[in-house]
Amino acid sequence: MHSDRISHEDIQEERFSGRQGSRFLEPGPVVLVSSAYMGERDIMTMGWHMVMMDEPSLVGCFIWDQNYSHELVRRSKECVVNVPEVTIAEAVVGIGNHHGPEPDKFEEFGLTAVAATKVGAPLIAECYANFECKLVDTSLTKKYSLFVFEVVKAHVATVAEVSDDDSLRGMGLFMIAGEDDE
Ligand SMILES: Cc1cc2nc3c(=O)[nH]c(=O)nc-3n(C[C@H](O)[C@H](O)[C@H](O)COP(=O)(O)O)c2cc1C
Repeated sequence: MHSDRISHEDIQEERFSGRQGSRFLEPGPVVLVSSAYMGERDIMTMGWHMVMMDEPSLVGCFIWDQNYSHELVRRSKECVVNVPEVTIAEAVVGIGNHHGPEPDKFEEFGLTAVAATKVGAPLIAECYANFECKLVDTSLTKKYSLFVFEVVKAHVATVAEVSDDDSLRGMGLFMIAGEDDE
């Protein structure tokens, strides 16, 4: 069904490049992935992730093989997926534009590492949700840099009441996208 505003004729039929096309499919929470292995730790920004199952809770994550995080996750077989608030948006972009391990991104971007309970990777205290994850499937890692994790523990800030303009998603709730931000 087409909306009143956009008719099929308005849609250009040209072949979109992957980069252009992903702009339409990738919106979702941009998250921070924290990882640790043998005394090293790191954080990366991640937009390319998807829910793959809810019982057990599986999440697919694209973690490029040139990222230092890829190495830490591959070796430790664990990570934490942290959902940031808009208040740390600048740090989220900065983290996504710097490769670890030096300088330490927790220190560089003023974030607080908190010990997780089921994995060695730290939680990021400034994030309103943290999902401790264990790697359960690497069959597509070599080819697509795709890691499949099981969420083994969730920490989610409690919200007193869901009002009309809350942007919570899932459980039958949807979010209407807002203005573009750079
Ligand atoms: C908004 C945003 C989203 C990103 N999404 C991803 C992603 O899904 N997967 C990925 O491998 N890199 C992604 N990146 C790039 C990594 O965060 C970036 O390469 C980072 O420097 C990796 O850090 P590391 O080398 O310390 O692991 C994203 C960056 C930004 C700014």
